Amino acid sequence: MSNTIEQNELQLEASLFLEAMAADSRAGKSLRKPGDLQRRLIEIAAEIQSTGTYVHSKSELQFGARLAWRNSNRCIGRHFWRSLEVRDCRSVHDQDNAVDAVQQTLTDHLDDAFNGGRIRSIVSVFAPRKPDGTDPVRMKNHQLTRYAGFRLQNGELLGDPDSEQMTAACLDAGWHPTRRDAFTPLPWQFVLDGSTSPLIDVFATHPDRLHEVLLSHPDSDGFSSLKLRWYAVPLLADMAMKIGGIVYPFAPFNGFYMGTEIGARNLADQHRYNVLPDVANIFGLDVTNNRTLWRDRALVELNRAVIHSFDAAGVVLGDHHQLGAQFEAFCQSESNLGREMTGDWSWLNAPMAASQTPQFHREFNNDVVGHTNFFYQKSPLSEGNSEKSTASKTAGSCPFHLP
Ligand code: ARG
Repeated sequence: MSNTIEQNELQLEASLFLEAMAADSRAGKSLRKPGDLQRRLIEIAAEIQSTGTYVHSKSELQFGARLAWRNSNRCIGRHFWRSLEVRDCRSVHDQDNAVDAVQQTLTDHLDDAFNGGRIRSIVSVFAPRKPDGTDPVRMKNHQLTRYAGFRLQNGELLGDPDSEQMTAACLDAGWHPTRRDAFTPLPWQFVLDGSTSPLIDVFATHPDRLHEVLLSHPDSDGFSSLKLRWYAVPLLADMAMKIGGIVYPFAPFNGFYMGTEIGARNLADQHRYNVLPDVANIFGLDVTNNRTLWRDRALVELNRAVIHSFDAAGVVLGDHHQLGAQFEAFCQSESNLGREMTGDWSWLNAPMAASQTPQFHREFNNDVVGHTNFFYQKSPLSEGNSEKSTASKTAGSCPFHLP
């Protein structure tokens, strides 16, 4: 085999992962007896020698995916890392009619994750990257549910500006949206062994799959006239999961939302839905001067609406105070177990009232555990496109990106 440097790196990352697994009080049972770990590492070395890669056992896949979550510096929800449900979808693309099989697996994931509002955290792990660097399955979408952003003739943008590139790509590929409004869900598109699938307008054909919460405010009837909404399940489809050096380029995963992701970012950011001026207007705030703190006050009202509406709809949603306290408990339990915690301060702090959560008053080591983690990666959307995505622009220079 020619690529010995890469193989040595893979072997090293496999060892680091298996040592972490062996050290885990619950997951490490199969590696507990003297010689177990050594035996597995020798087996892996032989496999890497002859095939250039190695195959995870089911229990390695399960613990590895959970560990990848535990190691995700930017995630405030890691307290729940052990509860992640790991689905082994490594051979789904191998079936006849792979597109249908992948689609079915994802719709099942979406339905089971929603679970009538009692959201379950799930990851569906599809085939790993091949030793030649190609990916059996990828998806162009950022999340399974995401709203389109239509560039109108007058230059304005209708919908989510974050989706402008994907929306344009879908329209170019022949998408005929059944409606064009601020919250039109995007179709799905897969890339199987390098070839792009037809568009699948899954929410147009199955509106029942579109789990959304309409936003209302506990004290203001007028708020509903803004006709705001958001989807229930954040299900990310564009990050790579890495376990013991093996890259799973398509491992869509979900948790539940923290309210501020919707109320202080998606709907509030000036480069996203930018609704704070409209919210301020409903509440009669003086927007002529930033020193009235109208933005801050509108932010609070919008976030109250998000929490109130998800609660009323019976859909699980965290808030930054509760998740902040749980994350603090996670930091403490990791330290009690003698494990060094890594974290990204700028992400672990909520975009409102940060100083009221414990994270604000802590420092975090932002080193990235490289052998087992979630990473950004080059999007298949930017392929053949001269205007590179942010992911590919920063690739190689940022520890959160795969090179
Ligand atoms: N911030 C992203 C969004 O607003 C979702 C990221 C993952 N969030 C989560 N709670 N698991 O859609």
